[in-house]
Amino acid sequence: MRKLHYILFTILLLSIKGAVAQTALIQNIQARKILSLNGRWNYIVDPYENGYYDYRHEAFDQSASGTGGFYDDKKPKDKGELIEYDFDYSPTLNVPGDWNSQVEKLEMYEGTVWYRRKFKADVKAGKRYILYFGAVNYESHVYLNGKKLGTHKGGFNSFQFDVTGKLKDGENFVVVKADNSRKQDEIPTINTDWWNYGGITRDVFIAEVPDTYIADYKVQLAKGDAAHLEGYVQLDGKDLSQTVTLNIPEAGVKIKLKTDGNGRALINLPVKKLSYWSPENPKLYNVTLSSASDNVADRIGFRTIQVKGTDILLNGKSVFLRGISIHDENPLLKGRNRSTGDLKMLLTWAKEMNCNYVRLAHYQHNEEMLRLADEMGLMVWAEVPVYWTISWENAATYQNAENQLTGLITRDANRASIVVWSIGNETPVSEPRLKFMSSLASKARSLDNTRLVAAALEVHRKGNEAIVDDPLGEKLDLVSFNEYAGWYWGGDPSGITKYNFNIKYNKPVVITEFGGDALAGYHADANTRWSEEYQEALYKNQIAMLGKITALRGMTPWILADFRSPRRQHPVYQNFWNRKGLVSETGKKKLAFYVLKNFYDQVQLKYK
Ligand code: GCU
Repeated sequence: MRKLHYILFTILLLSIKGAVAQTALIQNIQARKILSLNGRWNYIVDPYENGYYDYRHEAFDQSASGTGGFYDDKKPKDKGELIEYDFDYSPTLNVPGDWNSQVEKLEMYEGTVWYRRKFKADVKAGKRYILYFGAVNYESHVYLNGKKLGTHKGGFNSFQFDVTGKLKDGENFVVVKADNSRKQDEIPTINTDWWNYGGITRDVFIAEVPDTYIADYKVQLAKGDAAHLEGYVQLDGKDLSQTVTLNIPEAGVKIKLKTDGNGRALINLPVKKLSYWSPENPKLYNVTLSSASDNVADRIGFRTIQVKGTDILLNGKSVFLRGISIHDENPLLKGRNRSTGDLKMLLTWAKEMNCNYVRLAHYQHNEEMLRLADEMGLMVWAEVPVYWTISWENAATYQNAENQLTGLITRDANRASIVVWSIGNETPVSEPRLKFMSSLASKARSLDNTRLVAAALEVHRKGNEAIVDDPLGEKLDLVSFNEYAGWYWGGDPSGITKYNFNIKYNKPVVITEFGGDALAGYHADANTRWSEEYQEALYKNQIAMLGKITALRGMTPWILADFRSPRRQHPVYQNFWNRKGLVSETGKKKLAFYVLKNFYDQVQLKYK
């Protein structure tokens, strides 16, 4: 019998080595030999965090040795234990999967849920073992066989722990304290417009790698140079000075790289004419990296993306980004996406709309989504959840944002589909915000200078003019902003074409959001809010109004599918759904879906 309090109290008395910090993300980790821990995990709902604090609210595992968590011990029970908690007799949740959409009483739950998974491992000498989490929202404390491994903050980015020497050959158990409480100083902050899905929402597995392994690599075309491959390979382990062979057979590339004493080698080599990746030609090459002790295979596309004046150049040719915004949610499930099927459904709807581009809002999406975008030929705007009223003057908040941006770029640097790194959305103009966001923009460029850096900027209005002079625009490659003429302001859709845009910057304009709610199946005239006809008229007039912007080079209207939000409560039309989707929560395409498709068909002809 495992008792929460007894187990933790026992831990406290044990002098166990300090918690292991997170290890740097392993590139393409799912390509390794992995033991999946997906499936049913026992769970205990713990709103008062009894599993973490004693009755004096002293944290069990803040002791000097950093202990904590669960100790699977059958020792006789001491008198202090609680007998109210017992994993063996607790219910189960599916992992991956948020708890809100799996358990009705947890639909709006915000707080701690403890998860436990028992599993068998086959541990070999000379190998290293990495415990990997695709995402846990929001703060997680992770324990293996009763020893604390460490913690993670951030609800959407992957993280991992090196558990070599802690993973047992045979029976093991992993415990996760997942807490989705919203807090002002976090990233995102306390207010958002999406459902606060909590829990282990993406894959969990253990990867086996050699003692010295290929930890990271980047192989992309150099900034604006279609004839040069640039990047690096990074080893981790004891034997760091090795020869690593980079092999791209179909591109006629086979080169030996010598890693230095830190295990790093730079890639910089001329390459003959490649078949460049594009939405029309989503060409991916088989790429392998082999060292003395390791090898890893990937499928990578090669393309250039640049801005020139008010044009966006993909492989040197001006392109219009025919996009749509997407949340990481399956509307049919009412929950976070869980599998390739969910992800493919969303991207297929985008392709049916004749999109060549998607905005994966407002946070890092599943890595599989980016691999599908590579294969299906969709360019991507990837984003960190620096959203709305962040604590701009809090150093820990900035570090958190920078950590999430680093995770976003490090994990997906080899995905040709990603053309934009977005550092945030609709953040109110102020000096502290400008400082915070300017630092993030610099950080993005220092990590990857081959892609564009952007954010959804602020817009203000004066009479019939929408003015875009957000000082952050100076630091970015695109002028991107959200505007809701015809919904939040400007009267009925029929009147919005009178508005003009006064844009301070001579850069490509990509509208990151416009739209309005429509309840699928509710039909009325074009001036009746919530009807499909109103949304249809709004899209038609938005397209006419935005067409006046000569530097317009793309858009990602808000949003592909209806999505859940605690803010959206109209009892007839919303019922906790934001209805700006062009597809309903039953997969029905609304009238406006076809307005956008028709516009994209025309634009495609113009940009042939
Ligand atoms: C904002 C925000 C979205 C939100 C949308 C809306 O611009 O960026 O996250 O859902 O507007 O109001 O529906």
